[in-house]
Amino acid sequence: MAEANNTTVTLQVHRFTPRAERAERAERARGGSPFARKSSPFGGGSDSAARRRPRGKQWVQEYTIPARPEDTVLDCLLAIKRTMDPTLAFRYSCGHGMCGSDAVSINGTPTLLCTASIRDWAKQPGTLPQVDDEGFRHIGDETADDATDIEAGDSANDGSLGVIELAPLPGFPPQRDLIADIDPMLNQIRKLTPYLEADGVLATTSEGKVDVFEYLQHPDQLAKYEMLSNCIACGVCEGSCPVFAGGDAFIGPAALIWSSRFINDSRDNKAMDRMDDIDTADGVAACQSVRACSRHCPRGIDVGEEMWQIVAKVRER
Ligand code: SF4
Ligand code: FES
Repeated sequence: MAEANNTTVTLQVHRFTPRAERAERAERARGGSPFARKSSPFGGGSDSAARRRPRGKQWVQEYTIPARPEDTVLDCLLAIKRTMDPTLAFRYSCGHGMCGSDAVSINGTPTLLCTASIRDWAKQPGTLPQVDDEGFRHIGDETADDATDIEAGDSANDGSLGVIELAPLPGFPPQRDLIADIDPMLNQIRKLTPYLEADGVLATTSEGKVDVFEYLQHPDQLAKYEMLSNCIACGVCEGSCPVFAGGDAFIGPAALIWSSRFINDSRDNKAMDRMDDIDTADGVAACQSVRACSRHCPRGIDVGEEMWQIVAKVRER
């Protein structure tokens, strides 16, 4: 972030405080002990439904801060957290598009905070996508491609580079502010055995010690799944998928990408079992080929095309 500059950006952040947390704060304000609670608010049974659709206070908060066009949205959020509002919650780790922990909705489009620049995403007020009376978001001009072009030094007369709307990743339950619970996606990936299952002969040295365990592979075989192994499980494709949205109807594109990664690996010997696992009503059969999942994968995977390939492979087997 620039220490001193004449331009600003306004972030409109959709905030959320879950009800349990508010009740706990009220208890503390009354002088009671939060540890006096008889049972955990996050226990199992009927609570699990409440965890999927958490209730709480929702509001939109605006922050206007100094920023340059080349700053990222993550830079701006960190500046807000350090200088204006330490209660603002968001998740990040690597800061460089490698870990996938900071996927959110920016101007209605799922993407990563750390790779989204002010230049690409700030819009002049009044041009953000609007939600109509029936709750539908008009998406005609919501993508980065259509965003107002901002070159260094460009700004409205008041020095504003524009407005950016931030919300948690769609399709997942919000936990707090911009943090969504991506466990449903990670659990689906885990269920599909996301690791290599290969046969190999244990090589030993002449002294009987374990030697290098090699699984040789031709570059052509590597090329079949190498791109898929770039997936960082960020959830951007799932947040873009209208079938995955908010339910159990579809295991989701990220889980299928991980499954496809091992099905296409010549060293793996469980390809048939893996295809059986996804040949279900909520597996490949649920994909409607909308291809919204392809639009913003931060790792450059053409998710929709990969879905198409794996559906064909499962059907042809
Ligand atoms: S396929 Fe791309 S968008 Fe989907 S989870 Fe993996 S990295 Fe993210
Ligand atoms: S913080 Fe790691 S991908 Fe953005």
